[in-house]
Amino acid sequence: MICILEKLIISGGTRLFGNVNVSGAKNAAVAIIPAAILVEGICTIENIPTIKDVDYIIEILSKLGAKIKILNNNTLIIDSRNINSFEASYEMVRKMRASYYLLGSLIGRFKRAEVSMPGGCDFGVRPIDQHIKGFEALGATINTEHGIIRANADELVASQIYLDITSVGATINIMLAAIRAKGITLIENAAKEPHIVDVANFLNAMGANIKGAGTDVIKIKGVERLCGGTYSIIPDQIEAGTYMIMAAATGGDVTVCNVIPKHLESLSAKLMEMNVNVEEMDDKIRVWRDKELCRANVKTLPYPGFPTDLQPQIVTLLSVAKGISIVTEGVWDNRFQYVDELKRLGASIKVDGRVAVVEGIKELTGAPVRATDLRAGAAMLIAGLIAKGNTEIHDLRHIDRGYEKIEQKLLCLGAKIKRMSIPKISKGEVG
Ligand code: EPU
Repeated sequence: MICILEKLIISGGTRLFGNVNVSGAKNAAVAIIPAAILVEGICTIENIPTIKDVDYIIEILSKLGAKIKILNNNTLIIDSRNINSFEASYEMVRKMRASYYLLGSLIGRFKRAEVSMPGGCDFGVRPIDQHIKGFEALGATINTEHGIIRANADELVASQIYLDITSVGATINIMLAAIRAKGITLIENAAKEPHIVDVANFLNAMGANIKGAGTDVIKIKGVERLCGGTYSIIPDQIEAGTYMIMAAATGGDVTVCNVIPKHLESLSAKLMEMNVNVEEMDDKIRVWRDKELCRANVKTLPYPGFPTDLQPQIVTLLSVAKGISIVTEGVWDNRFQYVDELKRLGASIKVDGRVAVVEGIKELTGAPVRATDLRAGAAMLIAGLIAKGNTEIHDLRHIDRGYEKIEQKLLCLGAKIKRMSIPKISKGEVG
C-alpha cells in the first residue's frame, strides 16, 4: 500500500517574537459537535478549530445522517434532524478517543447506541467504566461484545451519580445522556475543566437546563427537546499554554491572543516560579524571559490543577532549566513515553512510574524524533525550537489532530520550520 508521510524540520535557536492567535478548544469541539446529535433543529457552532480530530468527528456525524455545512470562517452548521442511524463502526471511531461522546449523545436522543470502543492517544489503560456506570444509573442497559458497546433504554430516568474518579469524559457523557431524562440528575465529584463548562453552555444555549458546570456538582433538569441556536467555542487552553511554554523556552517575547487567562493560571504561576515573566491582560497573555530558567516541581491534577495535557511541554522546558525538577503525573498511568525521544536530543530525565526526575542541561541538540502522541508532539516542537541544529519530527498525524496551522503560526513568530513530504513509501517499509 502506498502512503505519503510528512515531517517537520525545525532549525533551532531562534527566539520567538510577536502575537499568536489561539484557536477554538479541541476538547470542547470534539464534545460539542457530537452533542449536536441531541439538537432537533439547526445549530451553528463558531470558533471551530481546523484540526484532524474535528474532521474525524464531522465525518462520523455525516455518516450517521446529519447535514453539515462547513463555512470558511471556522463555523459549522449542523442539522441533525434527519439522523437515522445510532451505529458507529470501528472504522469510524478508531482514530479518536472522543468518539465516546457518541454514546451519551445517541443514548440521549434515541435511547439506543451501538458504538465501537474508541481509539486515540495511548497512555496506558483508558477505561470508561464511569461513563457506563452513569448510563446504567439513567436506566440504560449496556453490553460490550466484540469491541462494540451497545446501549438500550426503555426510558431514561434522572439519577444521582457519584463519580469514583474525576473524569472529564464521564462528566460530559453523563450530562449528554441525561439532557432529556425525566427529573433532575445530579453528577457528583464532577470534573471542572473549562470545556465541561463550555459543553454545558452550548447545551443550555440549545434549550437544556444544566446548572453547576465548573463545580463538582452538576444538576441537569431533563427537558423535552433541544431546538437549535448559535454558539461560539472557547479558546484552547492547551494550545495557548503550548505557545506560552514555547515563548519561555526560546527566551522570546510572545503575546498569546484570544485566551481566557483564568484557564491558564496554574501554568502562569509555574512559569513565574521558573523565572519567566507573565503578564495577564483581558484576553491576552504576554510571556517573555530575560533571566535564566530555574527548576520547579510539577504535579498534574484535574482542573484547576496543572493540566496533564501540558506535562510533556513543561518537562521539555524543565530539561533546560537550572537544577533538578520532579514532575509527577497525577492523571494518566503512562504519559512519559515521549521521554525517550527527548533523550535523543540529550535531555537528562529518569522516569519511575508516574514520576520523572529532570536534570536541567545547558542545551539540547537536534536529532530525528517521533511525535508519540499529540502533546508529545508539542513537546518535540518545543525541543526542536531550542535545540542546536536541525530536529526532524516524524508521525505528524498526532500533532495535526490537535494544533491548527502549527507551522504557519510558528513561522509568524519567527521560527525556522518547514513541512516536507517524505517520498512515497510502501506501508510495509515504514517500521
Ligand atoms: N478514568 C477511569 N474510568 C473512566 C474514565 C476515566 O478510571 O470511566 C480515569 C482515566 O484512566 C484517567 C483519569 O480517569 O486516569 C482521567 O480521565 P478522563 O476521563 O478525565 O480523561 P478523558 O476524558 O478520556 C480528557 C481529554 C484528555 C485529557 C484528560 C484529562 C478529551 C477528548 N480528552 O480525556 O486530553 O488528558 O481529559 O484532562 O477531552 C489531549 O487533549 O491531549 C488529551 C489526551
